[in-house]
Amino acid sequence: MGKGIDGSKFRFAYYKTDYNARCYYSNGKWGEIEISDSEFIPIHMAATCLQYGQEAFEGVKAYRGKDDSIRVFRLEKNAERLQSSCRGLMMPEVPTELFCDVAHQVVKLNERWIPAYGSGAALYLRPLVLGMSPQVGVHYAKEYLFVMFATPVGPYFINGFATNDMMIIRDYDRAAPLGTGQFKVGANYAGSLRANEVARNMGYACEIYLDPKEKKYLDECGGANVFGIKGDTYVTPLSDTILPSITNMSLQVIARDIGLKVECRPILVEELADFDEFCACGTGAIVSPVGKVFDPGTGVTYQFSKDGKPGKWSKALYDRLLAIQFGEIADSYNWVKVYDDL
Ligand code: PLP
Ligand code: COI
Repeated sequence: MGKGIDGSKFRFAYYKTDYNARCYYSNGKWGEIEISDSEFIPIHMAATCLQYGQEAFEGVKAYRGKDDSIRVFRLEKNAERLQSSCRGLMMPEVPTELFCDVAHQVVKLNERWIPAYGSGAALYLRPLVLGMSPQVGVHYAKEYLFVMFATPVGPYFINGFATNDMMIIRDYDRAAPLGTGQFKVGANYAGSLRANEVARNMGYACEIYLDPKEKKYLDECGGANVFGIKGDTYVTPLSDTILPSITNMSLQVIARDIGLKVECRPILVEELADFDEFCACGTGAIVSPVGKVFDPGTGVTYQFSKDGKPGKWSKALYDRLLAIQFGEIADSYNWVKVYDDL
């Protein structure tokens, strides 16, 4: 085994690491980056993040490559999405340079926690922006905190790159049309907890939401986008109520390069019957093949894999994405940044 801790024991969970970084915003500007070894943040009990959910977050991974170098994947895209989430909740944007600088420092300071190459695990960075100053009326805060911590993680879905079963949820919505579905904000996830519990209690790995307006089209999972393979086409939902996934965006590029057509369009639930393969995708989920999807509204089960094995295109997409993230092949897209001072 190369450098780094054994990644095989990590689930997608919180594990204490050595340092995190914080940066406060007040009087209209971001201050200096502060490094901390505390897992706690001092917070006013009337802070807007606690009262009114003025909170946004991100999820990025640092990978230890085949050559033992440390790579981050499309970090600027996460910075841009956090900026969009901040605009959505009336919070000040974290500039891309500050975001990338903090990420670099957090990875560097926690280098010993980056799992060894070969286990599929990575160091997950969790940036968050919090409204810190007190409000009791419904107003935005004057002061904010940008925090970034790190935790080693395995894949989000416990089976890793083997199939998981999922269930359509019709009784709950993840997001409202013209609401906050396109933003990565804590409130969307709070709203998904009950539906997730329903799906898990019925034996499914997670829930799949439909478009909240018409309940006819596929949206996404609580923590990942979805895509299907239909013949020679990669098909993924176009919807205002899903999070624009950086993984999905990247897979669409790879899909074209390996000979698939790409369609980003509304997908009727019944169209699941025409898909040869179906997967969830995201930073945490990576590419998670789905065995079957149950729709309690119609009683129909859509089966994609009969033997629990991923389909050939899912495997090709997964292999190519991971080969780039772990430095096994040349990064012709310029997606990864190598931290060559680690
Ligand atoms: N959709 C939701 C609701 C998510 O929480 C995530 C995870 O970040 C994604 C999609 C996937 O996005 P990304 O590929 O940028 O991690
Ligand atoms: C991620 O994939 O980075 C996530 O944040 C997913 C998690 C919230 C379920």
